[in-house]
Amino acid sequence: MNGEYAWAKLNLTLDILGKRPDGYHDLKMVMASVSLRDDVAAEEVSQPGVSLRTNAAFLPTDGGNLAVKAALRFFEALGTPPPGLALSLEKRIPVCAGMGGGSSDAAAVLRLLRRRYAPSMTWEALEETGAGIGSDVPYCVRGGVALAEGRGERLTRLPSLPPCWFVVCKPSFSLSTPALFAQVQVGRLKCRPDTAGILSALEAGDLEGIAHRLYNVFEDVVPRRCGQIFEIKGQMLELGAMASAMTGTGPTVFGLYRDRDAARAAAEVLAKRYPATFFCEPVPECK
Ligand code: C5P
Repeated sequence: MNGEYAWAKLNLTLDILGKRPDGYHDLKMVMASVSLRDDVAAEEVSQPGVSLRTNAAFLPTDGGNLAVKAALRFFEALGTPPPGLALSLEKRIPVCAGMGGGSSDAAAVLRLLRRRYAPSMTWEALEETGAGIGSDVPYCVRGGVALAEGRGERLTRLPSLPPCWFVVCKPSFSLSTPALFAQVQVGRLKCRPDTAGILSALEAGDLEGIAHRLYNVFEDVVPRRCGQIFEIKGQMLELGAMASAMTGTGPTVFGLYRDRDAARAAAEVLAKRYPATFFCEPVPECK
């Protein structure tokens, strides 16, 4: 079995439509994959069970890790017991950062196992298996630019971004996704993203129109102590970004750049204060 790349995702927009009876929220999000990635590999071994080794010593290596959970769910969906599997995970995407790193690792495991054990399994079936692992996993199965609705499992493929670059910067603290969702009062959100507008801008390949519509309702919900988020946004704009927003439930912030050199230079400046700073470009969906 070869390896798979697990790309990070950014939320170009994130809107919350309402709370659902099952405790989750109905969302509307435009997502894009970027070139910051983890590497996932798997090897069949004689020892039964699914094991994981990773360079990120603080991560769980049992079923608490979404990569292991993905392998178990994959064989459940296939209706066969898993063979002995040794997974390896080279982690680069910061965790608890709003970039879907764990979900992307799980999706990469699903693609890897499909290639080896069920090549005729459809993307839709793989996404459905992903939905049982986490809300962002169905999107991460194929990645690229997509609209995700419902819990995150209703996907519409969108045109690729026009040529552009991103600077991605994670402040030194982390935020808990369930805690942030618990704080949202949907009726009290002051601003909402113009999702229809960004979809039209994507259709038209209008980078300016896309940039003007980057927005994440969680920026209105993050605790006061999270001022770094807004400092980084401001710095990105000073350093030439067309626009800047927080991704997912944060705290990572990204800036969208038309100019490659300006993005590189901005990343260098921000990296001096925030070590988890990355220069990225958009990545197309998996084919
Ligand atoms: O599905 P996942 O385990 O990634 O979700 C983590 C948490 O985020 C959930 O427990 C829930 O609190 C929140 N969530 C939500 N609505 C969604 C996705 C996630 O409320 N659509």
